[in-house]
Amino acid sequence: MKKQMIHTGFLLVVLFNIFISLTQCSDSFLHTSIHRQREHKTVLLTGAAGFIGSNFLQYMFDKYPNYTFDVLDLLTYAGSLENIPDYIRKSNRFNFFYGSVTNPDIVDLVMSRADYVVHFAAESHVCRSIFDDLAFFDTDVMGTRVMMRSLVKHTSTIQRYIHISTSEVCGTAETQPMDEEHPINPRSPYAAAKAGADRLVYSYWCTYDIPALIIRPFNNYGPQQHLEKMLPRFITAAMKGEPLTVHGTGEQSRDWLHTLDLARALDKALHLEDFSKIKNQILHIGSGIATSVVTIAKKILEHFDLPEDYLQFTPDRPGQVACHISSTEKARKLLDWQTEISLEEGIKDVITWYENNRARWQRMEGMKHIPVQTSHGTITLQ
Ligand SMILES: NC(=O)c1ccc[n+]([C@@H]2O[C@H](COP(=O)([O-])OP(=O)(O)OC[C@H]3O[C@@H](n4cnc5c(N)ncnc54)[C@H](O)[C@@H]3O)[C@@H](O)[C@H]2O)c1
Repeated sequence: MKKQMIHTGFLLVVLFNIFISLTQCSDSFLHTSIHRQREHKTVLLTGAAGFIGSNFLQYMFDKYPNYTFDVLDLLTYAGSLENIPDYIRKSNRFNFFYGSVTNPDIVDLVMSRADYVVHFAAESHVCRSIFDDLAFFDTDVMGTRVMMRSLVKHTSTIQRYIHISTSEVCGTAETQPMDEEHPINPRSPYAAAKAGADRLVYSYWCTYDIPALIIRPFNNYGPQQHLEKMLPRFITAAMKGEPLTVHGTGEQSRDWLHTLDLARALDKALHLEDFSKIKNQILHIGSGIATSVVTIAKKILEHFDLPEDYLQFTPDRPGQVACHISSTEKARKLLDWQTEISLEEGIKDVITWYENNRARWQRMEGMKHIPVQTSHGTITLQ
């Protein structure tokens, strides 16, 4: 009897062990299959020959060695293949499609290959939109419409689609910090075009069941930004010992976000396990800290050991935004994301890039000055 009990006990232990190994096996099978799913994604990035897209491409390319990246870019004055490092361009995990997001055939072709899409392509410079806004409405609004029409056709294969909007759609902060419920009050043609695109994407998810979300980054800075933008202008002027031209009083403040911090947020949005938490949501991505333009200019002068009389104040940009500051609550709650790079370290990193890449930005010098009509006559913005 005792012998029989020991035997049964032994059998139970064996069965228990088999059960545990099977669960572990199915567990590891599950993990492997999740891992495998991660291994075979084709990510379409529009506008990734530009500033933010190219930084995101590099971040993702290095992080996900089994992903393939398709880039659709029209290579306007703002885009350059030079922004994409050689090792990426030469890789068989990278495909470049030269063309416009306003072309439905090209867009359909690239969308039919994609699992994930991040739509960066846009005309992006506020001052230029005051000079000539046509391309802004064409690319930012109509291009987004073409992307949306194509997404509706490809919902069985595209799993996640991120529309890159901007905090500029909100205009000046009516409440601080600015959360996702902030009214849409665009104050420049650029912001109006982006607001049109932002609301267009919203209307598409209300109308069709599309796997989309909207990210509204605050002011981005980082390596490879076009010379026409504020931080590169300040840095390169200081490098040359020229005055730093500040619009208006310089008291207008912005929420500065390093491109790498944005890249981490977008990565999280593409990989969040429970997509239902962020599907058809708007997320503001910023640091939650506002810093004035003149403070940034002074930080740069300090870095280069230049006195404050290097500041040169110009007439203010028409349609200026007085204050931008992001709420960080929703992004923290849903993506478990917050900024990691402080403005001080970020600026140093960007200065180093401009010091090491003089030939790249010197070619852009002619693009810095933009004449715009105001009620007081023509002023040159830079
Ligand atoms: N820079 C910022 O501070 C900031 C902040 C918030 C949001 N955004 C948004 O992020 C996105 C990227 O901004 P960025 O600063 O990298 O812009 P960018 O101007 O540096 O790059 C834009 C890219 O889009 C490409 N492009 C333009 N028109 C195109 C078209 N019709 N078809 C295909 N490609 C086209 C350009 O060639 C370029 O490579 C934009 O949607 C912008 O509105 C920018």
